[in-house]
Amino acid sequence: MDLFEKLRKNPGPLGANASRFHGYFTFPKLVGEISNRMVFNGSEKIVWSLNNYIGLANHPEIRKADAEAAKDWGLAAPMGARMMSGNTDYHEQLERELADFISKEDVILLNFGYQGMVSAIDCLVDRKDVIVYDSESHACIVDGIHLHQGKRFVFPHNNIENLEKQLERATKITEETGGAILLITEGVFGMDGDQGDLKSIVALKKKYQFRLFVDDAHGFGTMGKTGAGTGEAQGVQDEIDIYFSTFAKSMASIGAFIGGKKVLVDYLRYNIRSQIFAKSVPMPLVIGNLKRLELLRSNPELKDKLWENVNRLQSGLKERGFNLGKTTSPVTPVYLDCSIESAAKLIIDLRERFNIFCSAVLYPVVPKGVLLLRLIPTAVHTFEDIDQTLDAFSHISDKLKSGAYGKPVTANS
Ligand SMILES: Cc1ncc(COP(=O)(O)O)c(C=O)c1O
Repeated sequence: MDLFEKLRKNPGPLGANASRFHGYFTFPKLVGEISNRMVFNGSEKIVWSLNNYIGLANHPEIRKADAEAAKDWGLAAPMGARMMSGNTDYHEQLERELADFISKEDVILLNFGYQGMVSAIDCLVDRKDVIVYDSESHACIVDGIHLHQGKRFVFPHNNIENLEKQLERATKITEETGGAILLITEGVFGMDGDQGDLKSIVALKKKYQFRLFVDDAHGFGTMGKTGAGTGEAQGVQDEIDIYFSTFAKSMASIGAFIGGKKVLVDYLRYNIRSQIFAKSVPMPLVIGNLKRLELLRSNPELKDKLWENVNRLQSGLKERGFNLGKTTSPVTPVYLDCSIESAAKLIIDLRERFNIFCSAVLYPVVPKGVLLLRLIPTAVHTFEDIDQTLDAFSHISDKLKSGAYGKPVTANS
């Protein structure tokens, strides 16, 4: 069979609906400066779908630093991989400052979060080792684990009892192979907004020997007293052996990093293939990230404002009877009983009539008959944005229940 013919016949679960969805539900274009309000489909919407948590994306000092760095350096510098010719004082400075901020001995920069995570997992374990991981881990963790040639055991999301069983199995195997155990979970889970139960996981270190790898993409900059992340929030930062975050969320940039003991970071520097065989992070991004880190550290009011908005939005939704699941972070999921047919009408209404733009997630990511509207409050949202959104949600909920979007989903349907 011709490969392209195969692609045409089976475009994948998301691609199957491309002709109906493209440009509106998928690949929508938000026009204008990254902010609380942007233009979509010709008119202004309140935007709740950007991970610009502490509002750095369009902060004047950041825009200035980005522009000046681009003018001074262009996008080419430095050329080559870090190991060969692409290392600079700025890259090392950013690593040192990040390490200091997250209280780790050292940090290595990664060009991208997804690729960096895949490559880090690939780099750290071999066939003798066993990976134990949370069932709701992000795609980059799952894909990194696909590269692993040894055993892997999954535990149901945050189920510590079951995790112990998997650790027992893993321990038996590593005793035979002479390998080690790597336990991977997340700080804040990006869909549901709940936190990995790091405290309980860390407590298991007394009984089992493993190293803990935490993807804190949504926790970095948002969680903990200083914004150093979910480990700081749960009082277990020192027990996270391998700390990962992307720059793509709170830092409103590109790139990622891993922090930990020097022995870990030195090993990664000389072995992680996504960095050894790839061009170094361009200078404007490194300098821009240095500025972002400086603002994150010196302007705690940005995180305070984020949380003020989180609390107003989440308490307002709860007061109106909405189900927000288990979130304990800024990620604000709203779960509605809704068929796929009704979901399309509801989302169009929310966007076109109420001028609210948020992400919508359906089966198979959530169970059949559930629509997850995912709101990401940020420091740049206003109380007016929140109150307008709360009113809109009350309206769409009433309409959904009254059948205005189609037959309501009931327990038996
Ligand atoms: C939990 C988590 N890990 C990793 C990534 C990937 O990071 P990046 O966008 O830098 O590739 C994301 C999404 O961006 C994420 O949500």
